[in-house]
Amino acid sequence: MTDNDVRVTLHPAFRKGPVDRRLFGSFVEHLGRAVYTGIFEPDHPTADAHGFRRDVADLTRELGVTTVRYPGGNFVSNYVWEDGVGPVADRKPFLDLAWRTVEPNLVGTDEFLQWAEREGIEPMMAVNLGTRGVAAAAALVEYCNGEAGTRWADLRIANGREKPYGVRLWCLGNEMDGPWQIGHKDAHEYGKLAAEAGKAMKLVDPSIELVVCGSSSMQMPTFGEWERTVLSYTYDLVDHVSMHAYYEELDGDRGSFLASGTAMDRFVDRVVASADAVGAQRRSDKKITISFDEWNVWYLESRFPGEQNLPIQRDAPRIIEDVYSGLDAVVVGDLLVTLLNHADRVPVACLAQLVNVIAPIMTEPGGEAWRQPTFHPFATTARLARGEALDLRVATPSYTTARHGEVPVVTAAGTVADDGAAALFLTNRSSEPVEVAIDHLGSVLTVAEGWRMLADHEPAVVGPEHAARVAEKSWGAVDVATAVRREGSTTTVRLEPESWTALAGTLAQA
Ligand code: AHR
Repeated sequence: MTDNDVRVTLHPAFRKGPVDRRLFGSFVEHLGRAVYTGIFEPDHPTADAHGFRRDVADLTRELGVTTVRYPGGNFVSNYVWEDGVGPVADRKPFLDLAWRTVEPNLVGTDEFLQWAEREGIEPMMAVNLGTRGVAAAAALVEYCNGEAGTRWADLRIANGREKPYGVRLWCLGNEMDGPWQIGHKDAHEYGKLAAEAGKAMKLVDPSIELVVCGSSSMQMPTFGEWERTVLSYTYDLVDHVSMHAYYEELDGDRGSFLASGTAMDRFVDRVVASADAVGAQRRSDKKITISFDEWNVWYLESRFPGEQNLPIQRDAPRIIEDVYSGLDAVVVGDLLVTLLNHADRVPVACLAQLVNVIAPIMTEPGGEAWRQPTFHPFATTARLARGEALDLRVATPSYTTARHGEVPVVTAAGTVADDGAAALFLTNRSSEPVEVAIDHLGSVLTVAEGWRMLADHEPAVVGPEHAARVAEKSWGAVDVATAVRREGSTTTVRLEPESWTALAGTLAQA
């Protein structure tokens, strides 16, 4: 083997642990057109009896989304959930300060939770720890999960929903370290509030899982110290710490952008180390896991004007409707490779967001719904990655990037299920094709199908026609007969330049 060879070594007995289905989550915030003319549009030709778009719900199912976070995001930090329940005619619009948009309150907790239930999606709710606190958070848990006989549970029943929703996952606020957040707090203020709110919420329903806010990104000046301080108040109470990360191509630096998965990998390692340091100091056997509840490609620095510069808007404005290319989709596929490789510590992750707002699904009001290029690697990974994550060894050359230093050329992740169904996900970040030798150490690997996304060089253009053109040129089946070769215990795969590939088949002990 030379320094330039790429070798992936695997065996069905070498595993990291189960892939939690909640790794394939997404996010619907009251932001732009995510809710109104996104999931909900009563006048749309496909609208169901509840006013939700059937075409969007069908694409959501095809995407394989398991969990959806709601109602924000920045929005939640000034949201009064009580204003969004009860008879719609009595609900008042309010000015959401996060996105400077008039929120009509036509969709609220009940409408969202019932949509999620109908679509077989596990909801993940966030409480407002920006402008509100312990009482409103505990009341919302009671409204959602309480049995008849107490004030807020009875209000839900009066609003037409007898059975508790049984919402399991709860976020204690959103990005509370960010100065842009309404009700932003320092780590001590937030840590104390999160501990008290979480305590009350678990007293209402001890079965819930709590997510405490980590840093809004690894670039935050308080990163690390924030996690340490917040967890010092909440370690024994919470289950997960949140991570958020968005990646974009800056200044035409394609090499750095293609290596976003490595940046995410290092970010996860650092948050795990911060959480484990708090645990070690407490001599605790408990392990805090990660809810990576916002991740995606977002042209945040290069295209977004910033929340403060948005004019006040009504009627579901078009905010951050990023249009994606094949290159963006390759990066999304590679970010999923990273998440799978951390399956032992990352049980929950949400592609932010689901519809219209930095989303894999786009819509026109009254018109079509379509898949962005990023839809394909997500849907394929959610479909194929089952069972447990394999503990792979990847030997690969590296390259040097301006933003992330030395990074691997090839990344890989794999899964195997109890029935022997196996999948491998591989990214080639180089502009040359690469041959990967997969050494399965005497076990039997068969490859039955394959899919690949190529990084195109076309500028991203809005609209379903562009998405269809990218899909035609960049997205497609791998010709397994020519791209995959098996000799004894080694399977060789050819990866296209700047591509993401998924292979599916079976893996078994010999
Ligand atoms: O997903 C868009 C926004 O990004 C969310 O509202 C916020 O949490 C993050 O900064």
